[in-house]
Amino acid sequence: MKTKKIIEKKYQFSGKSINGYFDADFAILGDLVNKENAILVTDENIFSKQSKKFVGWKTIVIKAGEAYKNQQAADEIIKRLIEMHADRQSFLIGVGGGVVTDIAGYAASVYMRGIKFAFAPTSILGMVDASIGGKNGIDVGVYKNLVGVIRHPEFLLYDFSFLETLPEEEWVNGFAEIIKHACIKDEKMFHFLEEKTLKDFQSSKENIGRLIERNVDIKYNVVASDEFETGERKLLNFGHTIGHAIENTAKLPHGSAVSIGMVAACLISEKINGFSKENTETLKQLISKYNLPVAFDIDKGKTWDILLHDKKKSGTDMNFVVLDKIGKASIKKIPLTDLREIFFKHL
Ligand SMILES: NC(=O)c1ccc[n+]([C@@H]2O[C@H](COP(=O)([O-])OP(=O)(O)OC[C@H]3O[C@@H](n4cnc5c(N)ncnc54)[C@H](O)[C@@H]3O)[C@@H](O)[C@H]2O)c1
Ligand SMILES: [Zn+2]
Repeated sequence: MKTKKIIEKKYQFSGKSINGYFDADFAILGDLVNKENAILVTDENIFSKQSKKFVGWKTIVIKAGEAYKNQQAADEIIKRLIEMHADRQSFLIGVGGGVVTDIAGYAASVYMRGIKFAFAPTSILGMVDASIGGKNGIDVGVYKNLVGVIRHPEFLLYDFSFLETLPEEEWVNGFAEIIKHACIKDEKMFHFLEEKTLKDFQSSKENIGRLIERNVDIKYNVVASDEFETGERKLLNFGHTIGHAIENTAKLPHGSAVSIGMVAACLISEKINGFSKENTETLKQLISKYNLPVAFDIDKGKTWDILLHDKKKSGTDMNFVVLDKIGKASIKKIPLTDLREIFFKHL
């Protein structure tokens, strides 16, 4: 079965070491788990577009989309697990984007007080972001990821051929997180992204493979250095504070909202952190190059109200991720009065 060289990496978290298999064929799953005990969870899009991969595997298929990342969908998975006589030896494998891996990790963590699970991420966002870090959960109404657990998968299996059926808009969406990683941690990758185009990554498994591996390393390093989210890990929120508020008010895709949020965070970085105007322009160009928006006609009043309710607000200040330069970020406590002034006058 193993026809090509798989890149195997170890990721060490407190009390847990997990393997990452890159550029692997999904079929090696048969070598990693006992097929008898394994149950796959995927969504209906992936199941229909990648049907061959699921042949011979017990599979639970859930509805696709964020609207189904809820307790009801988790209960459906649990009901199916009972029907399939899943027990403590069962092994759940989430095969999908962030919605599938979040809910599969959550269901596995609560079923019989926790059975083993692993992920085979299939979207760009799933590969570079959602599957790493141990956060698994569901939404409750408008409250995203309100309920969940922290538990790492046993392994991550990256088969890049899944990306052949990923819709264009999901490629674009995922690149917002890649650009975010470049901004906060990796100037070299930023320049690499400037040299390439989205097409270069879509048409070359080598290019996309290299990029994904690099991004997994970045997210892993940030998470592993701050597993309990006291500092460093907050850097991953770059572009997300204003981004989430925009996502809510303007109903934009996550990647679009984060892109606008990153530009806004750069403008704030200019005002309070000496970040240069030229660098904001450079980031805007990169974001546009990957077909993501740099601005949007938002309802500022509404967006500000949501921003104030953001969990990162503490008293009269807000902790905000700013850039020092491209490839380096830090957290600054900004008085709300200053932030308000910048938000309404300069963004
Ligand atoms: N746990 C974490 O640390 C973490 C981090 C970031 C994001 N997330 C979560 O991830 C979710 C977003 O993930 P996402 O963007 O992957 O969304 P998603 O799982 O909804 O996938 C996006 C769309 O692409 C489809 N799709 C995925 N892979 C495909 C493939 N290979 N071929 C064809 N279609 C495919 C899906 O069916 C879906 O319609 C959110 O719920 C977010 O909260 C979690
Ligand atoms: Zn994000």
